[in-house]
Amino acid sequence: MKIAILPDNDAIGSVGADLIEKLYRDKPNAVLGLATGSSPLPVYKEVIKRHEAGRISFKEGRAFTLDEYVGLPEDHPERYSNFIRNNFVSHVDFQEGALRTPDDRTDDIEAGAAAYDKAIAEAGGVDLQILGIGTDGHIAFNEPGEALTSRTHIGFLTDQTRRDNARFFDGDIDKVPTHCITQGLGTIMEARQLVLIAQGEGKAKAIRELAEGAISAFWPATIMQMHPNAWILIDEGAASMLENVDFYREQWAKLRG
Ligand code: F6R
Repeated sequence: MKIAILPDNDAIGSVGADLIEKLYRDKPNAVLGLATGSSPLPVYKEVIKRHEAGRISFKEGRAFTLDEYVGLPEDHPERYSNFIRNNFVSHVDFQEGALRTPDDRTDDIEAGAAAYDKAIAEAGGVDLQILGIGTDGHIAFNEPGEALTSRTHIGFLTDQTRRDNARFFDGDIDKVPTHCITQGLGTIMEARQLVLIAQGEGKAKAIRELAEGAISAFWPATIMQMHPNAWILIDEGAASMLENVDFYREQWAKLRG
C-alpha cells in the first residue's frame, strides 16, 4: 500500500486529483468508481476545478457509485445517486447515462445487485475506485463480519454507522435508513486501483487496522492489504495511531520524487 500522510484537505484533494487526471490523460474512456460521504469531497472539488480549467475531461468516461440507501424518497439530497450528481458528476462533462448507481427502487433488489456487478464487468471493470472508510472499518457499506469476497448485495447499516451518518439527517438516527445496496468487498477488490481517503482522529483506529492490523472480516477495509495498487490519502489526525509512519513518509517522499 502507498500511504500518503498529508497536511490538509487541499493536499489530499490535489493528490487525489493528480491520480484521476493521469488516469484520464492515459485512458480517456476510463471507468471511475465513486464514493459518496464527506471524505472524498476535497478530491471532487479539485477535479471540478481542473475540469473547468480544461485539464480533465470525462466525456468518454463512465462511472459507478459504491452504494445506495434503501428507501429514501426520489428527491432526497442524501440519496447517494443525488449526492454524487450534486457534488461531482453534474459539474463535469460525463455524458448522459454514463453514471450508474445501485437501484433500490426495483421489485427485485437482489436481481438488481447481480445486474450491477455484471454492468461493471461489461464496462471493462473499474479503473480507479475512490473509497472512504467508516469508523468501524467499513468500505462501501460492508460492515464488520461481511464476507471478504462478497459481491454487490443488500446489507444493513450498524448502529455505529447510522449514528455516524445521522449528521447528514438533521442529527436524527431514526431518519437514517437501516438498509443499503452495496458493492461487495470482492467487487471492490477487482478495481485496478483503489484510492481511500480519510481525515480526522475519528478515523485513526480504522486507519491503523486497515494498514497495520491483521486481515479480518472484523475490519473489512483490511482486505485492501491484498490489493497490488492501493493508495491511502490521509491527514495527520487519521494517521495519528499508525506505528510505521517513518516508513510511510519515506516511501511517499520517494514516490513523489
Ligand atoms: C459512501 C461509502 C461509505 C463512506 C464512509 C465514510 O459511498 O461507501 O463507506 O465512505 O461511511 O463516510 P464519510 O466520508 O462521510 O466519513
